[in-house]
Amino acid sequence: MAKINACVFISGKGTNLKRLILNSKNYNFPINISLIVSSNKNAKGLILAKKFGIPYIIFENKKVLAEYKVLKILKYYKISLVLLAGYMKILSKRFIKIFGKPIINIHPSLLPKYKGLNTFQKIIEKKEKKTGCTVHYVNEKLDDGKIILKKSFFIEKYDDEISLKKKTQNLEYSAFSQAIIKEIR
Ligand code: GRF
Repeated sequence: MAKINACVFISGKGTNLKRLILNSKNYNFPINISLIVSSNKNAKGLILAKKFGIPYIIFENKKVLAEYKVLKILKYYKISLVLLAGYMKILSKRFIKIFGKPIINIHPSLLPKYKGLNTFQKIIEKKEKKTGCTVHYVNEKLDDGKIILKKSFFIEKYDDEISLKKKTQNLEYSAFSQAIIKEIR
């Protein structure tokens, strides 16, 4: 199958990145992970880049010049899809416009509920009965953009921030790949 080149943006552990890399090895999965961009030079996810021999760059500041540099590299690697997998920075309107191709993000809540940070803490405080994750297109607003899919589960009485995070992330691994398959044909 003809695959498209994707770039994954990360900031931390990269457990979603790992699943994406492993799935991309599958003949029927529509993307190659051709590049990794990290907003943090110490991100654990970069170990995966090295392990799997995937080129990576560090994109630590948001100066216009840095953005243009990243855009140039995306072009060099013929990237036609950007995946934000735990990327903790907001991409500028200019970046999104110039890239001009789909950017997809995964967020650990049922959007439009609980945008931004400290998601699990807020969900516990609000005594929600249900939570989950959302895969959506990125626009210039935080955790906004057209929703591709959501996956949910019921919160148990004994759940705390740690268990919610674990359950949500387990759902994320399949949700992200399913969303990619759904959108990229
Ligand atoms: C995920 O929970 C994702 O929803 C959020 O950041 C987390 C990244 O985790 N945006 P990891 O780096 O993939 O382990």
